[in-house]
Amino acid sequence: MRILVVCLGNICRSPTAEAALREALVDAGLDDRVTVDSAGTGDWHLGEPPDPRMVDAAAAARLTLGGRSRLITPADFDADLILVMDAANLRDVRALAPDDATRAKVRLYREFEDDADGTEVPDPYYGGSEGFAHVVDVARAGARGIVRHLQRMGV
Ligand code: 4NP
Repeated sequence: MRILVVCLGNICRSPTAEAALREALVDAGLDDRVTVDSAGTGDWHLGEPPDPRMVDAAAAARLTLGGRSRLITPADFDADLILVMDAANLRDVRALAPDDATRAKVRLYREFEDDADGTEVPDPYYGGSEGFAHVVDVARAGARGIVRHLQRMGV
């Protein structure tokens, strides 16, 4: 099974969500069954590694980020689940989907989180360090919910 996480720039939220999801899959023993990748809808940072502010916040919570920014492509829509960070993301990615069945695979990353205090992973790019730390926390809480969802589906 393939999961794709998508944000705007692919340098803050989706690399963090990708790492948090991989961590949760390892914890659940599902890392050999599920692959995770990330992409963005905006091209401002193509080829760049994750934002240093995001890397620092993740490292402070013992989460290691990797990858380089890339745009979502038509082939990405073959993924089984496409998880996006906020309402604008949801609209943008659904607009790129080739058909209704594919559009149905595009869901909010936080949709599976228990007792969530919000539905979005807020964009930290223009804010302070607390926003980046919040992304790490929300990425991990969301990842636990996503893995539970996969387990319930029998993955
Ligand atoms: P991300 O954050 O979508 O979480 O990677 C952003 C990165 C870059 C920009 C906006 C958000 N930008 O405007 O360049």
